[in-house]
Amino acid sequence: MSQKQRTALITGAGQNMGLGVARHLAAKGIQVIINDIDAARAAAAAAEIISAGGKALAAPFDITKTDIALPAIAALEAEVGGIDILVNNAGNAGHKATHQIAFKDMPPEEWDMYIGVNLYGVLNCTKAVLNGMCERGWGRVITISSEAGRAGLDINVSVYGAAKAGAAHLMRHVAREVGPYGVTANVISLGLMDNVPEEFTSRIVKTIPMRRLGSGEDVAAAVDYLSSDAASWGSPDRRCRSTAVPMPSDASERLGSSAQLSPQQVCFVVEDVSAAVAFCEERFGWGRSTSSRPRLPRRPTRPGAVRS
Ligand SMILES: NC(=O)c1ccc[n+]([C@@H]2O[C@H](COP(=O)([O-])OP(=O)(O)OC[C@H]3O[C@@H](n4cnc5c(N)ncnc54)[C@H](O)[C@@H]3O)[C@@H](O)[C@H]2O)c1
Repeated sequence: MSQKQRTALITGAGQNMGLGVARHLAAKGIQVIINDIDAARAAAAAAEIISAGGKALAAPFDITKTDIALPAIAALEAEVGGIDILVNNAGNAGHKATHQIAFKDMPPEEWDMYIGVNLYGVLNCTKAVLNGMCERGWGRVITISSEAGRAGLDINVSVYGAAKAGAAHLMRHVAREVGPYGVTANVISLGLMDNVPEEFTSRIVKTIPMRRLGSGEDVAAAVDYLSSDAASWGSPDRRCRSTAVPMPSDASERLGSSAQLSPQQVCFVVEDVSAAVAFCEERFGWGRSTSSRPRLPRRPTRPGAVRS
C-alpha cells in the first residue's frame, strides 16, 4: 500500500501500544510526533526511531489540559506544516496510580484521573487538528479505546470505561461532521494487551484462539489501514454498531508467525463492517475467493422479530 509522506501525532507514544504504532508508521516513511507526558520517555522513543532511520520528534505535554494541549499542537502544526494523522492513544489503563475499584467505593476525586486522559485528552487533541485537516481536505483521527468502553465488565473499571465510551462516541459524531471534507474518524477497541501483568492474564489468554495477548504491532496493523488512503470510506456506522474482525478457522496458517490480528473475543474491533472487511482483504487477501472470506457475525434475532 503506498502512502504519501505524511505527519502523524501519536499521543502517549513513549511506550507500549503508542510506541508500537509510532515505530510502524515511521517505518512506512511517515513523520511521527511522539507525544507523552513523560518527557524522557518521549525523547527516548523519538531517538530510537531516528536512529532506525525514521523521522520523529518528541512533543512532551499533558494532553488533558486544554490550555496546554491546544497551543502545543498549534505550534507543532506550524513547525511541521500540518498534522495529517492523529492517533489518540494515551491512556492510563496500566498506570501505577490507577487501581480497580468498584464505582460505589471510588472517591469522586479519582474520577478525573480517568476522564482527563481518556476523554478530555481526546477532545483536546481532536479539536486541535480537525480544522487543519478539513482545510487540507485529508485527515485521519483514530482513537484507541477499550472493551471496557463497549461492554459492562465485572473488573471494577466503570469510570475508565465511561471515559472510553465517551471518546468512542465522539468519534462517531465527528466522523459524520468531517466526512464531507475527506477526514475520517475511527475507533480501535482493544482487549488485553501484552503489557498487562501475567497474574491477570494467565487464565484469559487460554480463551484467546491465538493463545497470546495483543501487542503494539497488532494495534499498529489496524492503525496502518485506518490511516491509509485505502481507508477513505471507513467511518463508524451511525447506528453505533461495532464489528469485531472475525478470524477464519485457518487464520494461523494464513498469518503464520507474524499474526497481526487478535481474535474476536479478546479483540480488536474496527467500528465499521466495510472497513473491517476491507482491512482483512487488503492485509491478508481474505475475500479473494468466496470460500476464504471470513463470515461476519450474525446479528441475533430479537424474540418476536420478523425476519425479512
Ligand atoms: N494495555 C491494555 O491491555 C489495554 C487494553 C485496552 C485498552 N488499552 C488502551 O490502549 C492505549 C495504550 O495502552 P498502553 O497499555 O500502551 O498504555 P501505557 O500506560 O503503557 O502507555 C500510555 C502512555 O500514555 C502516557 N500518558 C498518560 N497520560 C498522559 C497525558 N495526560 N498526556 C500525554 N501522555 C500521557 C503515559 O506516560 C504512557 O507513556 C490506552 O488508551 C489504553 O487505555 C490498553
